[in-house]
Amino acid sequence: MKLTTEEHEMLDGAQGRAVRKAMQILVALGTIYEAERMVPVASVQIAGVSYDNLGEAGLQFLDEMAEGGGKARVLATLNPAGMDVENWQALGIPPDFAEKQMRVIEAFQRMGVVTSCTCTPYLSGNLPEFGQHLAWSESSAVCYANAVLGARTNREGGPSALAAALTGRTPYYGYHKDESRQPDLTVEVQAHLAETSDFGALGKVIGEKLQGAGLHIPYLRGVGSSAGISPSLEQLKSFCASLATYGGAAMFHMEGITPEASLYAPPAEALVVNQSDLEGAVQELSDAGNEPADFFSLGCPHLTIDELAHLAELLQGKQVRGEFWLTTSRTVKQAADKLGYNQVIEASGAKIAADTCCVVAPIKGRFRVLVTDSAKACYYAYSKNKFKTVLLPFDEVVKRAVGE
Ligand code: F3S
Repeated sequence: MKLTTEEHEMLDGAQGRAVRKAMQILVALGTIYEAERMVPVASVQIAGVSYDNLGEAGLQFLDEMAEGGGKARVLATLNPAGMDVENWQALGIPPDFAEKQMRVIEAFQRMGVVTSCTCTPYLSGNLPEFGQHLAWSESSAVCYANAVLGARTNREGGPSALAAALTGRTPYYGYHKDESRQPDLTVEVQAHLAETSDFGALGKVIGEKLQGAGLHIPYLRGVGSSAGISPSLEQLKSFCASLATYGGAAMFHMEGITPEASLYAPPAEALVVNQSDLEGAVQELSDAGNEPADFFSLGCPHLTIDELAHLAELLQGKQVRGEFWLTTSRTVKQAADKLGYNQVIEASGAKIAADTCCVVAPIKGRFRVLVTDSAKACYYAYSKNKFKTVLLPFDEVVKRAVGE
C-alpha cells in the first residue's frame, strides 16, 4: 500500500505503541483487500462492546491499546454494551458481568471514545454527511449510513474500527469506491408495507436471495413515493437491520428514496417480492405460535424518540405481563425523560433499557419465548439464546405484552 509520510510514522511506532498496532491492523486489512492507499475518515462506530461477546481476551486487547497511549483522532462512538450502564440491576444483570462490562467501557473512555452505546449513532450525534468516508462496524448502521445517508463505509470489525479511530484512517477499498456501490439485483416489491415488522420481513426475503445468489446490493422498486409510500426512518432502520443480518448486505438503493438510486439503472437480474413472500417470512420467524411469551422487546435497532412517544400513549394506564425491554440510546432516553414519556412507560412495568439490547445482553437461559417487531432480534434470539420467537407489528407487541 502507498502510505503518506505521517502514516509511515504511525506504522514505525513514532506515534506510540497503540498507534503502531492500529496501523498494522489497517495495513494488513488493506493488503488483503488490495487497497492502494488509506483514506481519512470523518467518524468511527465501534462494535464488539458487550463483554458477553468480547470476553477476557477482548478486554485485554482494549486495555493494551489504552495503556499504549491510543487516543481517538475523530469522533468515535460505541455499539450497545451488555447492559444499561446506569441501571443494570433493574435488568437482572449479574454484578460480576457488570464489573467486567464497566472495565470495557472505561478502556474506551481512556482512549477518548464517546461511550454512547448505540446502534443508531446517526440519532445520537454521530450523523455523517453525504459522501463522507467512515469506519463503522454495526451492520444495521453500516447499511443505513451507506444507503440512506449516502456516506461510505465498509462493515468493519471491532478491532479495525478502533484502529481507524486511533489513526483517523481506513483502507480505501470496497464501499468507499464508486464501482463497489453499483446494484446487482433489481427487486420489484409488490407487497403492502405498513409496519416495521413488514420491512424486517422484506429484508429477510431479499437478504436470503442475495446470500443464495452471491449478490450484494439490491435496487428496490415499488417502495418509493411513486407508489404512494414513503418509508419512515423507523421502517428504514428495521429494513437495514434485517437486510444486513440475512443477506450480509452493507448497501441498497431504493428508487425515489435513497440518495444514490438515481445514479444507476435497475440491473437486469430481477426478483419479485409479493405479499405471500412476506407472510412466509413472518411465519418462519414466529415458531412460538401461540405459546405464552415471557419476554417482549422493542428497539432493535434502538428506539427513536417518536417510537418512545408512541409507546407512552400505548402503555398509558396499562400493566405489562412478563419482562418487557424497550431498548434505546442514552441520549434518546434522556430526551424521553424530559418529555415525561419514561414515567408513563415505567409505570406500566416496562423497562427502558439504554445502552444495550436483547441480543448483546447476557440473557441466555432466562427466557423461552421472545415477542418483538424486529426480524434481526428474532434471528439472534434463536441463534444466540435459543429462544422461540414471534414477529408482530410494533403495536401488536405491546398488546400481547399487556394481555389484550
Ligand atoms: Fe442494535 Fe442490538 Fe438490534 S445492536 S440492531 S438492537 S441486535
